[in-house]
Amino acid sequence: MANQFLIMLSRAKGVRDIATRLPMTRSVVDRFVAGETTPQMVEVCRRLTDDGLLGTVDYLGEDTADLGQAAAVTWEYVGALAALAEAGIADRVEVSLKLSAIGQFLGRDGEKVALDNARQICQAAREAGTTVTLDMEDHTTTDSTLGILRELRADFPDTGAVIQAYLRRSEADCRDLTHAGSRVRLCKGAYAEPESVAYPDERDVELSYVRCLKVLMYGEGYPMVATHSPRLIAVAQDIAQRAGRGNDDFEFQMLRGVRPNAQTKLAGLGHRMRIYVPYGTDWYGYLVRRMAEKPANLGLFVRGLVDR
Ligand code: FDA
Repeated sequence: MANQFLIMLSRAKGVRDIATRLPMTRSVVDRFVAGETTPQMVEVCRRLTDDGLLGTVDYLGEDTADLGQAAAVTWEYVGALAALAEAGIADRVEVSLKLSAIGQFLGRDGEKVALDNARQICQAAREAGTTVTLDMEDHTTTDSTLGILRELRADFPDTGAVIQAYLRRSEADCRDLTHAGSRVRLCKGAYAEPESVAYPDERDVELSYVRCLKVLMYGEGYPMVATHSPRLIAVAQDIAQRAGRGNDDFEFQMLRGVRPNAQTKLAGLGHRMRIYVPYGTDWYGYLVRRMAEKPANLGLFVRGLVDR
């Protein structure tokens, strides 16, 4: 219930306007967000790669309201990819992209706008020597996002997909995405969803996660296991071994600021460990979803609001 309330808050514009003007301390935002500018993001990624980790960069922003904003976000990604290439780390850092930020819901032509913009970003990623993964948003966007993914993959087959285990449909979606070369990030899912489409019970979400993991690990694609759960990480290691996958045949992914010790430990064990690195000024919705995932973060957030 508290989680659903927080997720609703992440979308409430009035609350967002007030919260972003409060004296938030840098330490709270910095824990999860890699700064507001491209050079700050590149510096964070450079440190990650120096530590033997991989990255996937997300320029924060969703629900883009007009074509100009969609073009500006696209341009930001193209610039970020060029900056990563110039820093010599684009082979270890890719980008994650929300289609809503590049126009998916701009009227009847929204999907075409998002596809055209995504193509530009995929082309820039190819030139930089890296890849793009399409983030997954709430369930009303799943069919549209998977449709755009299919079109993008015709020209950019290495474009990654995200599947959310909390959706009842996800095991079937995983089966559709197990072909050779198909990069699929499996996560639990972070949006407030109705019971008609998503499992309300955490235990059922984890069981679904394991079923999806099996489909992906025994398939021919490249599974990207995005979770902080020690139990699911152990299950993934076990299934990967049974499926005959070596450490280079799949990867783990975690969010910046969440279980950093576990991140370095898994990398130290020889696993490919990729960190999701958000940056930009529009950090509010992203942070509120992190609060919803872990109530202890709410304390951190509130302390940050009052602690100058
Ligand atoms: P769970 O929430 O059960 O966490 C397991 C343990 O990890 C907790 O007990 C705690 O110790 C720790 N932990 C988890 N969250 C924490 C936090 N915020 N702060 C501190 N500790 C925490 N979702 C989505 O809907 N669409 C998407 O495209 C993506 N993309 C994405 C990319 C990557 C790389 C990751 C890691 C995650 C996503 N997600 C996402 C978010 C995902 O759906 C999910 O909400 C979070 O990963 C939390 O779920 P866990 O599987 O980590 O389990």
